Amino acid sequence: MRIVILTGAGVSAESGLGTFRDKDGLWTRYDLAEVATPEGFARDPAKVHDFYNARRANAQSATHNAAHAALCRLQASAHDVMLVTQNVDSLHEQAGSRDVVHMHGALSGALCARCGDRWTAPLAMSPTDLCPSCAAPATRPDIVWFGEMPYHMDAIHAALLDADLFVAIGTSGTVYPAAGFVDIADGAGADTLELNLEPSEARSAFADARYGPASEIVPAWVDEIIARG
Ligand code: APR
Repeated sequence: MRIVILTGAGVSAESGLGTFRDKDGLWTRYDLAEVATPEGFARDPAKVHDFYNARRANAQSATHNAAHAALCRLQASAHDVMLVTQNVDSLHEQAGSRDVVHMHGALSGALCARCGDRWTAPLAMSPTDLCPSCAAPATRPDIVWFGEMPYHMDAIHAALLDADLFVAIGTSGTVYPAAGFVDIADGAGADTLELNLEPSEARSAFADARYGPASEIVPAWVDEIIARG
């Protein structure tokens, strides 16, 4: 079966990485306009680097959980799986997943806003860092901010049109274009399943849903899918 998986912050919540919109979520403690937009970065790059340096350090010390491990097992099964994540942590990779499609970029990446070069981000970035290629003081986290185009959209769109099953895991279904993936898959004839702690904003768009902590419901679902062949 051709399966497209979309994960959000909820898949990493039990690894100790906060979500964005739950009680005391990241956006209840930070103004996203200041730390997750190009305008915020232009206004105060040091504040934005500090925000991502803290998240990078936090993510570095996190350990993947049973949900990440189960999705790795699913990728290794006979099914054809595209694993798309909105998350910028590397817990899918830490669990052994390969070819993870990071549509919002990754904390592990750095980007030169001048020449477009990319490299592995140091643990702490600062506005005075120089691009290793063009030496411009124009480095930024390789993170897709609000108002910017997410990465790999053509490949994701093609996979959604060709999928037998689309599964959203641990996402509130509030941020587009990811929140619209279920409609594209459903419109193309795929089955759709939401695996979440509680019904998301997109719940009505899914044909099926199971609720509970990702570390419990994702392994159970993966075992069923692999057993079904
Ligand atoms: N198991 C499963 N789901 C969980 C768990 C858990 N242990 N804990 C929380 N959740 C669910 C919440 O119920 C919620 O629906 O995960 C979802 C998290 O929603 P958000 O905090 O909005 O995170 P996400 O959907 O990934 O946000 C999307 O918004 O700010 C941007 O770029 C950012 O990628 C992010 C995007």
